[in-house]
Amino acid sequence: MENFDKLREHSQNYQDILINGEVYSKGIVLCESKYQCMKKYITITDRPFTILDIGANFGYFPLKILEDFPNAFIVMMQPYVEGQILKEICKLNTKYNDRLILLDCECHKNNMELLSRCEHFDYIICSNILHHLPEWKEIYPLIKKMCKYLIVDTPPPDDDKACGQDKIQEVYDIVNKEADSISEEKFPRHNNPTAYSHLYFYKFNDEAITTQAYMFGPYHLNKQFFHIVEDDKRIFKKEGKEYPYIHGLNLFNFVTLNGVYPPIGDILEKLHTRNIKTGYKWDNSCKDIYIPNFILNENLNLIDYEDTATDGLEFKLRGTVFAIENSTESSYIPNDNNQIENSILLLHICYTFCTPIDWKASAYLKNKEKLDLFYREKGVRIKISENKVEVTPIPHNLINYFF
Ligand SMILES: C[S@@+](CC[C@H](N)C(=O)[O-])C[C@H]1O[C@@H](n2cnc3c(N)ncnc32)[C@H](O)[C@@H]1O
Repeated sequence: MENFDKLREHSQNYQDILINGEVYSKGIVLCESKYQCMKKYITITDRPFTILDIGANFGYFPLKILEDFPNAFIVMMQPYVEGQILKEICKLNTKYNDRLILLDCECHKNNMELLSRCEHFDYIICSNILHHLPEWKEIYPLIKKMCKYLIVDTPPPDDDKACGQDKIQEVYDIVNKEADSISEEKFPRHNNPTAYSHLYFYKFNDEAITTQAYMFGPYHLNKQFFHIVEDDKRIFKKEGKEYPYIHGLNLFNFVTLNGVYPPIGDILEKLHTRNIKTGYKWDNSCKDIYIPNFILNENLNLIDYEDTATDGLEFKLRGTVFAIENSTESSYIPNDNNQIENSILLLHICYTFCTPIDWKASAYLKNKEKLDLFYREKGVRIKISENKVEVTPIPHNLINYFF
């Protein structure tokens, strides 16, 4: 807890911090009363559903929702020091943290554009965030496209102490115009208690369409994915065939958006022990085991194992060689050093299913020192020769022996 408290010194105490249902520290904003109002808008209860909270801060709303809605699964987007604190909060919330994903990335036009082509959430929470986003005008329609229900809070124009003063009026006007309903309850602003905000609620159509299977995935003009989203049932339709909805987030999107919770180690553990939810028989018949064919929720789900793809990646099971089509390789290259952790996950997935890894190693070697440190921490040994990477987990008690 000492390290956790030290980390908190670098950030504003914005939301209350919850640990397993108890308030660990009070924040400067009203949380409980706003949550009680928000809760009334959550009408899906009898099936698993996924919520995206953009700018989740310390995860107050997600953690309350997880407590009250056993079918809820939450994806939080929170960068900066708050993201680091939130990662610790996730670890500490042992009662609920199997239903949480944390993406340590900024919400900006590029990633929201990519995400909205392939993911569709049951709910998006967009609380006091739009007026922080320089590209809010482009992002706002993408958010609306990506969910069935949207919950917004935004400062009123008379909150002259709120950030993003240049955007407040415009955001306020459009939200007031477009929302389907506005809460009766009003919430005093923390910087200016004579000004009040409300919660805004939007409901979109039951049917939504996405055009890509995952971020950077192949874009087929004639291929569409249909999401039929009703409160009591949700169906995913592809090429005329219906599939049950799997809540959560595509593992490729998790990796691309710098997913930091659940920790890579937990995902690897599932891979190594084949703790994977799927109808696949592990009979070597599937040639399409690759990262975008996993959905991450409280389980790791392998999908599309019945596809007889011959044109894409051809992964064979461990012990045999696999080939990667050149054109898809670039999507796996980490954009910056922040994503190095995730590139290790990719390597591991390859390791789990295939060895040796015939891969262009150079992309992962940009920061060798950092990588070495990471391997040591994670307890893996990596052997790199020209164009070949082998990742081997090292038993914990032998780590010092290897380094
Ligand atoms: C005013 S706080 C609101 C927090 C929370 N949503 C609430 O209503 O209590 C704004 C939050 O958004 C985060 N934030 C700011 N810019 C962001 C961006 N581009 N992408 C994601 N989060 C961002 C901040 O770090 C902060 O946690």
